[in-house]
Amino acid sequence: MIAQIKNETEELNAMDVIRYVDQKFKNEVVFSTSFGIEDQVITHMLAEAGSPASIFTLETGRLFPETYYVWNRTLEKYKLPIKAYYPNTQAVESLVSLKGPSSFYESVENRKECCFIRKIEPLQRAIQGYKVWITGIRAEQSANREDMDIVEWDEANQIIKIHPIFHWTLADVESFLKANFIPYNPLHDKGFPSIGCQPCTRAVQKGEDFRAGRWWWEDKSKKECGLHVTTK
Ligand code: ADX
Ligand code: SF4
Repeated sequence: MIAQIKNETEELNAMDVIRYVDQKFKNEVVFSTSFGIEDQVITHMLAEAGSPASIFTLETGRLFPETYYVWNRTLEKYKLPIKAYYPNTQAVESLVSLKGPSSFYESVENRKECCFIRKIEPLQRAIQGYKVWITGIRAEQSANREDMDIVEWDEANQIIKIHPIFHWTLADVESFLKANFIPYNPLHDKGFPSIGCQPCTRAVQKGEDFRAGRWWWEDKSKKECGLHVTTK
């Protein structure tokens, strides 16, 4: 199945990949948005295509005010429903009661525990029952991601993952945003190429990796939250 989809999408541009997925999988497609620039490109394409894909966001409870701003602007412009998934109330209450609001700085284990509660468990609920999960991942974002592929089988989540703008450069994304008047997170203009939760994201300096500002206090090899596990 994966090989067939890869074959059939090899020559297609991002918009046509979306149309292909819509046609083949109809309403069994789900798209996750963090409202980062890449995801804004995909939301725009889904709107243009009149896609039946469902859209969701993981509202960790620790997002930047700027992320809520662009979330609102996106709703205003595209008028597409975006479902918000929150962490399980009991799990987050007990984490914060037991370890305080900033346990993620204390160890990688604590950080992964917080990511599990605020992102991974809600993600599992969000993608349940769907066959295809679309993301805005690009190969250029990290060495880990260069090893990924535009179409993949996600063994852990038992779902097909498709990254329609996998081969786009940052310049491609920026010019698409501009040409199409797509609302974007103002933090992107302030040195934030990758935006996650507020306490775990800082701006990067010129020449630093795209993801250098994510969990910046941790060793480089550990810097994925577990949403996107590479199997290769
Ligand atoms: S992460 O693994 O480091 O958090 P990143 O911010 O690079 O991921 O985003 C990669 C893709 O993961 C996005 O294109 C989006 O599909 C998904 N994603 C990341 N964060 C969220 C979120 N809070 N809600 C929904 N999807 C998200
Ligand atoms: Fe928690 Fe930080 Fe992970 Fe967000 S990125 S879920 S605040 S550890």
